[in-house]
Amino acid sequence: MRTGNKFFGLTTFIVGSLLAMAASGSDLPADFAANPAAVNMTQQPKVVVNSGLLEWQPFSRDLTLWPSLSYDDKRPTPKPRLVKLEEPLNGDPARGRELAMARDKGYCIVCHELPGEVWAGTVGALLLKFKQHNYPNELVFQQIFDSRAFNPISVMPPYGTFGILNEQEIRDLVAYLQSLE
Ligand code: HEC
Repeated sequence: MRTGNKFFGLTTFIVGSLLAMAASGSDLPADFAANPAAVNMTQQPKVVVNSGLLEWQPFSRDLTLWPSLSYDDKRPTPKPRLVKLEEPLNGDPARGRELAMARDKGYCIVCHELPGEVWAGTVGALLLKFKQHNYPNELVFQQIFDSRAFNPISVMPPYGTFGILNEQEIRDLVAYLQSLE
């Protein structure tokens, strides 16, 4: 494995955190949009075209692992983590782009503008022509791994700390952003 023990340590940490966070159905607050009978528990709203109605359908990923916005959700939020990127980056920009667009992965475009997406969100910074910033890879890696290192009240998901993306996926995203001219 490329990053040796460090990567193993990270994997152990993520698996451990997920186990610690994994809640059984009974820990979930009553207002959590979950259906224990559905394969992956969580539901997402789907607009029924021209009806003004919503249908609930299973989400493509089990979201019950993470604390929700419910006041009754007493599960703790993992603390911000500082990470050190070991170079070389070895990221795949094409895979990074897929991850940025994928709804059950990064879904970065819900907040950020990226090339090729017309209906992007704007709550996050513009990421078009990202390369021009000349940010070190290390900084971009930390931003995606756990943005709370720079802004404790960031709304950007701590993708690494929460185990949403693994280390290689974050490397791919860094490579993608750094390639945007
Ligand atoms: C829920 C909204 C949201 C999502 C989803 C999100 N971000 Fe962010 N992002 C932000 C906000 C807001 C900022 C501004 C800094 C802050 O508040 O932390 C930011 C800042 C950044 C920055 C720093 C930009 C700069 O020039 O300083 C990078 C890089 C970034 N995001 C990449 C990503 C990537 C890659 C993804 C997907 C894996 C992603 N973001 C997903 C909201 C989001």
